[in-house]
Amino acid sequence: MMTSGNKIMDGATALSIEAIEQFALMVARGLSDQPRRLDSRYLYDANGSFIFERICEQPEYYLTRTEAGILAGAAAVIARHTGHVTLIELGSGSSVKTRLLLDAYCEHYGSVKYAPVDISKTILEEAEADISAAHPDVEVQSLHGDFEAAFPLLGTLSPSMLLFLGSTIGNLGSHEAALFWDRVSLSLSPGDFCLLGIDINENAASLHSAYNDAAGFSEAFTRNIFIRMNRELGASLDPGLIDHVAHYDRKWRRVEIFAHFLEEQDIAIEPLGSAFRIGAGEHILTEVSRKFRLEQMVPYLGTFRLETERIFTDSARRFAVLLLRRK
Ligand code: AVJ
Repeated sequence: MMTSGNKIMDGATALSIEAIEQFALMVARGLSDQPRRLDSRYLYDANGSFIFERICEQPEYYLTRTEAGILAGAAAVIARHTGHVTLIELGSGSSVKTRLLLDAYCEHYGSVKYAPVDISKTILEEAEADISAAHPDVEVQSLHGDFEAAFPLLGTLSPSMLLFLGSTIGNLGSHEAALFWDRVSLSLSPGDFCLLGIDINENAASLHSAYNDAAGFSEAFTRNIFIRMNRELGASLDPGLIDHVAHYDRKWRRVEIFAHFLEEQDIAIEPLGSAFRIGAGEHILTEVSRKFRLEQMVPYLGTFRLETERIFTDSARRFAVLLLRRK
């Protein structure tokens, strides 16, 4: 690592001291918790975002493919339904699926404004370059940051539609999700839209394989946050001694993903001058991925003044895209 000014140069990415400090504090807080946990937004550094894109391509991971199929069939209907709105996307990643919508808006209205928001600067810049090259009628204004950073934008871009695809909402626990929907509801103007993609699959076997792909990208994704800790926090871990464990909890209708420590290891957090000892056999929760039921989701969203105007699903009913309107 090389230091220049208040930036740490790490290959292509420059990380601010503040960003590293926030990561250090999150790790220290999560490891002090019982059960130990890590905030899943930190899975998405440049490498993590790249690995996640590979997960999306795996045959077992039906979510991305299914949602893309739904969007391909529904994009024109959605564009006609909302009128010529600005599209704002939370956790846009590569924006590959979103292009189906961008194309439909361009076809109907000649142009569209698109504001992707993502926590990984690298993937955001790549997506912006790709879209600008392939879709000259799309005016892209990207925002690097977490969801919090996007809320102030929503009020200024109305009339708009907020895109929250891929069942990313499933990463938020029920309390966090309620806070999130409150913020969305307050930030959107009456008449604005939200397009929400949710996983509605309840088949335990297919859920298990989706989060344990044979090619090992799910495992690489879980390990990557520890590799990031080595690089940014000087954690000095052996990632080879950390296993990926993902299982579907039927009762809570959620996939839980853990890092399983095969041997005792200390996690150093150099910026804080502290360390945590993780025992052999201990599990650290790195992610939850909640699954949803339409008959619960629709009334729940209504409590945040978000009315479901259209529901699009695939024939196997494993995934749903909801077109919501702020009342
Ligand atoms: C991006 C949160 C939707 O929960 O399915 C996939 C993340 N983690 N495999 C999901 C994920 C491991 C993904 N989301």
